[in-house]
Parts: sequence; structure tokens; C-alpha cells
Amino acid sequence: MNDILSVNHLSIGFDHSYGHTSVIDDISFNIEKGQTLCIVGESGCGKSLTSLAVMGLLPSGGRIHDGQIVYKGQDISRKSQKELSEIRGKEISMIFQEPMTALNPLHSIGYQVSEVLRVHQKVSKHEAKEKAIEMLRLVGIPSPEKRFAQYPHELSGGMRQRVMIAMALICHPGLLVADEPTTALDVTIQAQILELIQNLKSQFDMALLLITHDLGVVSETADKVVVMYAGQVVEYGDTKELFTEPKHPYTKGLINSIPKMDEDTEVLPTIKGSVPSPDEMPMGCRFVTRCPFAMEICSKIKPPKITDGHEVHCWLYSSEDVKGENPSVDKV
Ligand SMILES: Nc1ncnc2c1ncn2[C@@H]1O[C@H](COP(=O)(O)OP(=O)(O)OP(=O)(O)O)[C@@H](O)[C@H]1O
Ligand SMILES: [Mg+2]
Repeated sequence: MNDILSVNHLSIGFDHSYGHTSVIDDISFNIEKGQTLCIVGESGCGKSLTSLAVMGLLPSGGRIHDGQIVYKGQDISRKSQKELSEIRGKEISMIFQEPMTALNPLHSIGYQVSEVLRVHQKVSKHEAKEKAIEMLRLVGIPSPEKRFAQYPHELSGGMRQRVMIAMALICHPGLLVADEPTTALDVTIQAQILELIQNLKSQFDMALLLITHDLGVVSETADKVVVMYAGQVVEYGDTKELFTEPKHPYTKGLINSIPKMDEDTEVLPTIKGSVPSPDEMPMGCRFVTRCPFAMEICSKIKPPKITDGHEVHCWLYSSEDVKGENPSVDKV
């Protein structure tokens, strides 16, 4: 196996004074060395929590209840914060949606980029500075020697995102996690940043776990796609196959809502309804309340995982005789 990351049956929940809420339920996926895997799904489906769990950065109250996160053969889901801090930034790095939340406004950008290197590697201050400048140049920051001494507020949003990418990559990690890395940026800058991430990914031979709402970006960049709905994986497979032969009604709905250049984009089909909150999850399939093909069994029993080409979690594809009137899924 050539997997760099393998998420196995991961479940995450939050503990409250009044009890416990399960948010991520039994999700599994793998990323091979150098591959790009995208996680897609509507707001609140659990994309960010999944990526934060991989980083060992769950918000307070959040806890891994079950499953494993295996990075290069080691289960990192039960490691202490000290052990994780040795992995973070060195082996696995993350870039966030809003660079200002990750950058310290009180330190120069040069200090922040070189500090990552000094935490993880035995290098002199001078060497760290040289490497930081080289990295700033590599991420497309003009006059990096001059920028080195500047503070985050002196840079544009796009430049700040480039600094964050420089910080994330300076130790040459094996995996980069990027949660909506361009959403906070101007549209013109978004494409440049995505292209930069793609180029550096090949240059550094890293794997990429990318979370994005933009299915156009997914179809162009991902090797594999995980479609999440309400904290569960509903479909998972190779990008080309998933886009040409989507199976789950939710995936079909997402793909149908991509604007197409050659069609009237005024009225796009949308998936009616909204994602249920963790406290009011339907029994059985969580998509049942919004699915045009829901059958009786869907509201009662969790759908089975069917692997035929790629993975789908849906009763419509079960060989068991559960369909009753046998709805045709092709019409979704
Ligand atoms: N700190 C928290 N405490 C309790 N519940 C939380 C917390 N953070 C997230 N959740 C819940 O976990 C679920 C998944 O949230 P998450 O942020 O992972 O969604 P997402 O898919 O990243 O959404 P978006 O596309 O809006 O970023 C949501 O139902 C959310 O309410
Ligand atoms: Mg999110």
C-alpha cells in the first residue's frame, strides 16, 4: 500500500454538560503519496472537523470516539499534544481559510516563516532566514528580502495566504491540508493561489487534502473525492468516475447544481431542504428527508456500503429486495 494517510472508521463527537453529540460518524478514506483528495459537501457536513482531526486540532469539547487516523503507518489519533506538535508543520501542515487567524500580527512574516523551521530543524538563525527568504520567493512574494521584515497587516490578503503557504511548506511536509484556502480571497486571486498550491504540490511531491465548495476545482485537481453528508461519507471514489457516474442522489444533486457554460445559468437546480443538525439526525439514511427516491427502509436502517466501481452508501444500490416499487435512480 502506498497510502500516506488512512482515515479508518473515524467518529467524532462533542461532550456537553447536558450530554454528548455525535458529529462525524464512521468515516473512512485513504490518500496515497502525492495524491490530491477533495472533501465536498454542504456547510455543516463535517469537512472542517475531519481536517482538524487529521491535524490533531479539534476544538475544545471535541473528541475522537472511535477509529484511527494513520499517517505513514502510525496511528496519530491517540497521540499527545506534544507528540502531535512534532508532526504538525513538519510532516502534516495546514492552511486555513483566513490567513489572519493563523498569522501572528505581532511578529514579522520573516520571523514567523523561519520560526517554523527552527522549531523542527536544528538550523542557525542565519540559515533559517536564508531558507525563509527562499521559500517566500518560491510562493511568489516579490522582493522577499524586503518583505521579510514586514508585518501581516502590511500585506494584501493574497500575499498573506502566500506567507501561510510558505510557513506550511518550509519543512517539506508529506501532507498538506487546505480547508477552503481561497474562499476569503478575491476571485482573481483565488485561481492564482490554487495554481500555486498545485505547482508546489508537484514540486514537493506532497499529498493534498483539499476542502472546497467549488466542484469545478475538484474535477480539475482531485485524484479522489469524498462526498460527505451530515457527518457521514455518502460516496467515495476516483474523481473521473465519480463525476461521470455519480450514484448517490446527493452527489447527483451537487453535480447538477454546477453552473454550465453552455446553458442558461439563471435557474440552477438545487437540493431542496437543508442539512439536519446533529441533534435531529434522522434514523437510517441521513439524507432521507431530502431524497427524491427515499424508500421505506431508508428512514429505518443505515444504508449499506456498496462497492461497485466506487463506494456509495445508499439503499438504491443494495441487492437486497428493499426497493418496493423500484424507483429509477437514473432520473435523479
Ligand atoms: N466547536 C463545536 N462545538 C459543537 N459542535 C461543533 C463545533 N464545531 C463544529 N460543530 C458541529 O459539527 C458539524 C460539522 O461542522 P464543520 O465545521 O466540520 O462543517 P463544514 O462541513 O466544515 O462546514 P462549512 O462548509 O460551513 O465550513 C456542524 O454540525 C457543527 O455544528
Ligand atoms: Mg468548514
